[in-house]
Amino acid sequence: MLNWDAMFATRSSRMRASEIRELLKLLDRPDIISFAGGIPDPALFPDKEFKQAYAEIFDSSAVNSALQYSVSEGYKPLREWLVKQMAALGIPCGLDNVFIVSGSQQGLDYFGKLFLSPNDTALVTWPTYLGALQAFNAYEPAYDQLTPGGNRTPASYREAAAQKGGKVKFAYLSADFSNPTGETVDRDGREKLLKLAEELDIAVIEDAAYQSLRYDGDPIPPILALEIVEKGHINNTRTIYCGSFSKTLAPGLRVGFIVANAPVIRKLVLMKQAADLHSSTINQMAIAEVAERGFDAQVAKIRAAYSHRRNCMLAALERYMPAGTSWTKPEGGMFIWVTLPKGMDGAELLAKSLESAKVAFVPGKAFFADGSGANTFRVSFSCANEKMIDEGISRLGKLIASEIG
Ligand SMILES: Cc1ncc(COP(=O)(O)O)c(C=O)c1O
Repeated sequence: MLNWDAMFATRSSRMRASEIRELLKLLDRPDIISFAGGIPDPALFPDKEFKQAYAEIFDSSAVNSALQYSVSEGYKPLREWLVKQMAALGIPCGLDNVFIVSGSQQGLDYFGKLFLSPNDTALVTWPTYLGALQAFNAYEPAYDQLTPGGNRTPASYREAAAQKGGKVKFAYLSADFSNPTGETVDRDGREKLLKLAEELDIAVIEDAAYQSLRYDGDPIPPILALEIVEKGHINNTRTIYCGSFSKTLAPGLRVGFIVANAPVIRKLVLMKQAADLHSSTINQMAIAEVAERGFDAQVAKIRAAYSHRRNCMLAALERYMPAGTSWTKPEGGMFIWVTLPKGMDGAELLAKSLESAKVAFVPGKAFFADGSGANTFRVSFSCANEKMIDEGISRLGKLIASEIG
């Protein structure tokens, strides 16, 4: 046997298989009701629209550029569409501020690469998106807890980072309907976060993967929009907005986007040249066509479907969860976050649940950079129908009740 670990770089030691990816395999087992995945429902993909878009590309001279190498910044008509879209969100920007990535996950990897030297500190919420931790881990950072709206002083963050041998480099958060909790940071929390970032002189990475999926309540301006109002122009801001077409159109095409000040975008473009030259030309062209023709209608369609499923799951939790448990009440997104009584363990519960209740969910611990949160888990309603939700939550409620005793 070769000793690969001795040959690998030290940074690889923090790369571990994602619990979620392993669990996704359970989606195929017919006896399991799975609330684990948190992926878009394929029945809602705009597949006919994509079929038409690809057919039109292949039936025209556009096919030559669609199959050709292209620029690292991304397909211009798609970036132009995004400029209009951003303006509607309160983010006036130019083409130089928009950059296409191969899924917003690639953006997260680039932010790790761009900002984090070993032992530098990334501020993340407890819990946070597991894929962000995986992306950042490769750059050997330390983590500290970000509590938007909280009162921790900049000095305490600075001191903690210095003790770990580095500096605070950025705050990463998903401010709308976060993965995993479904929670949203209110306007006051966003403003306090900007103030903290200003005092620490760090970047803010705003992960907007779920921002379009609001089912009720009033939209809150993106953090970048609030900062542009304050600073007058996007090129004066420190917030980096990270968006995705995965939750609205289709994740398989791997098209996401970054909107930020021009100096950061220029650096990201250089990184992309080294990493993969550019994202798939033909997929960017198809996304541009489908978005131009019917983005709003597609978003309205998925909002209606997911909002109904969210309502069903909240009602089922109310009906079946025993006393001592609590859960979030998200205004959008794909997730609800359940807290068990202290001392209970989500991972142990999952093992029992797969044996007896036959319901899958994601234990919460993996989402915590400090390894806490054992008594939590995430359920997703995005791919479940009403009957599955009622049956699955009922079985889970009974199992938890019997565990509480
Ligand atoms: C919060 C969050 N950010 C980013 C991503 C990555 O999405 P993509 O790379 O498909 O754009 C996901 C995917 O689940 C996510 O939940």
